[in-house]
Amino acid sequence: SQLTDVTLKSYGKNKDELIQRALMDNDFMKHLEHGQILTIMDCMHPTSLTKGCCVIQEGDDGSTVYVLEEGMVEVTKQGKKLCTIGPAKVFGELAILYNCTRTATVTALTDIKLWAIDRQGFQTIMMRTGLIKHSQY
Ligand code: CMP
Repeated sequence: SQLTDVTLKSYGKNKDELIQRALMDNDFMKHLEHGQILTIMDCMHPTSLTKGCCVIQEGDDGSTVYVLEEGMVEVTKQGKKLCTIGPAKVFGELAILYNCTRTATVTALTDIKLWAIDRQGFQTIMMRTGLIKHSQY
């Protein structure tokens, strides 16, 4: 129906704007090429968790990069509070970018909505353009 079309279109647009804003705001990702940003936006899938849930556990192997769409999360390290993160922010990028274990614990302070991309998808996007770049020189 027309209503469904309109709803889907605006949802898609909001998703892209939110994810793009989050990537541009992140020190490690703001220098990505436009094509990489578009591919990341394309590959992200929605997920949600309820208040109190642990999204990321310090020390675990990381497998997902997140963009927070709605709600608040808290970042702690060895039990000490580092900060809270609100909508349109990236988190969970460090373990994937640096191939290390999770550097902190991230807990949902409210019910949250997230966009997620897995390690393999994320690294493929990074590597693909890295290889293309490399072959140009
Ligand atoms: P990662 O190490 O994959 O998982 C935990 C995440 O918490 C980390 O990626 C960052 O996104 C985030 N994080 C870690 N340390 C800080 C900090 N000092 N301030 C804000 N966010 C942090």
